[in-house]
Amino acid sequence: MDAAPILELRDVTKAFAGTTALHGVSIRVEPGRIVCLLGDNGAGKSTLIKVLSGYHQPTSGQILLDGREIRFAGPRDARKRGIATVHQDVGSIPLMSVGRNFFLGAELTKGVRPFHHLDTRNANRIAIEQMQRFGITRITDGDQLVGTMSGGERQVLAISRAMYFGARVLILDEPTSALGVKEASYVLRMVSQARAEGVGIVFITHNASHAMAVGDRFTVLIQGRVAAEFARGEKAREEVINLMAGGEKIAELEEELAIE
Ligand SMILES: Nc1ncnc2c1ncn2[C@@H]1O[C@H](COP(=O)(O)OP(=O)(O)OP(=O)(O)O)[C@@H](O)[C@H]1O
Ligand SMILES: [Mg+2]
Repeated sequence: MDAAPILELRDVTKAFAGTTALHGVSIRVEPGRIVCLLGDNGAGKSTLIKVLSGYHQPTSGQILLDGREIRFAGPRDARKRGIATVHQDVGSIPLMSVGRNFFLGAELTKGVRPFHHLDTRNANRIAIEQMQRFGITRITDGDQLVGTMSGGERQVLAISRAMYFGARVLILDEPTSALGVKEASYVLRMVSQARAEGVGIVFITHNASHAMAVGDRFTVLIQGRVAAEFARGEKAREEVINLMAGGEKIAELEEELAIE
């Protein structure tokens, strides 16, 4: 039996002028579980995470946090309540140091106002320690610029930062989409580690293999509707790919065209 969800959407609809991006979508985020959100371009994935992270208000339906209905005032309110979102661009600034980026918006200071200054040494030490905890050993200097890190390392920086600041729910938007095979597997390992620490994870991806490597439960969105929901081991990869494509026989097409 799964634990009670931390965060839940019930029958959420989100309408914009001209389009309805979500139609009656329900999703549950449980502690120590990875729920994968799969869907093609325009399926409504980003809209769904914007509702989960307080960026959009639902047009109708409910958001529940720890079983109680809630209305997030905005992304900052959701963040304060432990809902951390790592966006695709990982929100890091290339010309900023690792230590500075780690504490961005939560700067460590030394001394007493107004004579306080940034405690760079401790910020750097903590940032490096936290990244090492998640297996990044190549970066040993907190003064190193974020722009010199690989895409995978930046993802790890953003995820370890969210964990350090007490995230209960981690929303990861396409964390592996821009990465090579090795880097992707490294980020997937880290996502599993975050799950082992009890965080509830929403993993958004186009990539059925990445989802199936780590996911506990899967929700497939098609044109803003939940087209399928299933648990780990219930469906084969080909079936999932077909589902995402809205029933088109992509696997067969691949075979026909001899795409590897
Ligand atoms: N702010 C907005 N105003 C109007 N329409 C929007 C807005 N945001 C999203 N939409 C529309 O809602 C639908 C779903 O978009 P969304 O960005 O959620 O899809 P997605 O699954 O994230 O796609 P992708 O894989 O391309 O990122 C699209 O038709 C999009 O044009
Ligand atoms: Mg999107």
